[in-house]
Amino acid sequence: MTENNTTDVTMEVLVSLCRRRGFVFQSSEIYGGINGFFDFGPLGVEMRNNIKQAWWRDMVHRRDDIVGIDASIIMHPKVWEASGHVAGFTDPMVDCKESKMRYRADHLFFSPVVIEGETIGYISVLETPGMEEEAAEKADALKRKLARQGKLQPLELREYREATPDQYALIPSPATGKPGSLTPPREFNMMFQTHVGAVRDDSAVAYLRPETAQGIFVNFKNVVDSGRVKVPFGIAQVGKAFRNEITPRNFIFRSREFEAMEIEYFIPPDDDAWPKFHSEWIETRLKWFEDIGIPKDLLGKDVHEKGKLAHYAKACTDITFNFPHGMQELEGIAARGEFDLRQHQESSGKSMEYFDEARRERYIPHVIEPALGVDRTFLAVLCAAYTEDIVDGDKRTVLRFHPRIAPVKAAIFPLVKNKPPLVDKAHEIHSKLQRRWNVFYDESGAIGRRYRRQDEIGTPFCITIDFDTIEKDGTVTLRDRDSTKQERMNEDDLLLFLEEKIDP
Ligand code: GAP
Repeated sequence: MTENNTTDVTMEVLVSLCRRRGFVFQSSEIYGGINGFFDFGPLGVEMRNNIKQAWWRDMVHRRDDIVGIDASIIMHPKVWEASGHVAGFTDPMVDCKESKMRYRADHLFFSPVVIEGETIGYISVLETPGMEEEAAEKADALKRKLARQGKLQPLELREYREATPDQYALIPSPATGKPGSLTPPREFNMMFQTHVGAVRDDSAVAYLRPETAQGIFVNFKNVVDSGRVKVPFGIAQVGKAFRNEITPRNFIFRSREFEAMEIEYFIPPDDDAWPKFHSEWIETRLKWFEDIGIPKDLLGKDVHEKGKLAHYAKACTDITFNFPHGMQELEGIAARGEFDLRQHQESSGKSMEYFDEARRERYIPHVIEPALGVDRTFLAVLCAAYTEDIVDGDKRTVLRFHPRIAPVKAAIFPLVKNKPPLVDKAHEIHSKLQRRWNVFYDESGAIGRRYRRQDEIGTPFCITIDFDTIEKDGTVTLRDRDSTKQERMNEDDLLLFLEEKIDP
């Protein structure tokens, strides 16, 4: 077997595989789709559930210091005033009046094109890994169009937000290539609004939550008063979040409806406490990604500069992943101080103080927040798993999912479909395994083709029932997806083997 581990798989290849094999579909596809929304098909929903279950098991069940909650999506609007989202959950947006395209001003870059000290015009590009080359090509094209001689000075790409009012009219729209149609940047609140109850006036305005974190903060007291938690401890939540992103893009990387897995980990307020907890969480979360099958060399850390942090944040480190569109945030791990609890205390008038019995002291705990998207994890797992290799001279596409994450854990085949004893035995093993896991029965086509179908959806194990199973020793053949090696196993060993691999 030769291997070509294409971690640089393109998004087009992934989108096409996801659609063809029933992982992810465009939402409302028969009506032309709706931008920024996705539906998960039969395999996608299994994989999402596996990601959420792995996270919940490892972060909640397998720890003594974290409990879970499930808060409602629509909360009292004052929650979002106190958290700062009503005033500040905005992105700078810029419109192209001619094409009606809308861009995030921090994703749109421009530069003057200068020859020997004279500005001959401007170019603009959208943020992509290849934007420098694209900008250089556009500058060359402008020079040719204006038939100018001389050497181009190096371009200085800057965010559209940094443009001066005089420059707005000179910077070309990426949609039309012509200047004069871009608006100045405007702040755009990304929360989806709705109305609660029959009256649709301002007093009924409510929001779809843009993060699950606030559901945790507003329940902090409830959890402390009803449970046996002691600082340091965490509250975890998995649930849908909604953001009216200006430019949803890169498939499910940035969508308008997504699912978050967040932990608020409450710690003592001492100045020297948070750095230790913060670094521990970064390491814990990095290890978790490796545990679910994402190789270390595709992961990175992006430490936010002190000057760019929110005023209340003490530190923030993103765990990044090498997505097809570049090294981008997978999870954010922020040290948020006491900001959120204090805001809710002040806004609600209810104390958020915790009584620390060991210290005989009352305080508002500080918090470390590891916040991760299910959909981004899904995409990272998919990119990391996608491989093309050559088996017996044939090209094969294989998704090397960790067995915990794989949507189908095992496929069960009778060697041939016209021998009732083989078929009966295969059905019997299938029913047994079905009680524990999502497994698949397949009797159609040559065995090699059945393997390939499972390889392409990432099924880690194929179990074949053949004549030896029936006539000799009762053993079955277990074929490993990654090595394609086969070994014979009796039924008891098979169950133990699968259990160890799937639920480590
Ligand atoms: N409570 C903190 C918080 O919400 P965030 O960095 O805005 O932090 C956390 O979001 C994580 O949620 C991100 O690291 C990313 O994995 C995921 N995420 C954020 N916006 C997303 C979007 N529009 N589409 C998909 N996932 C998103």
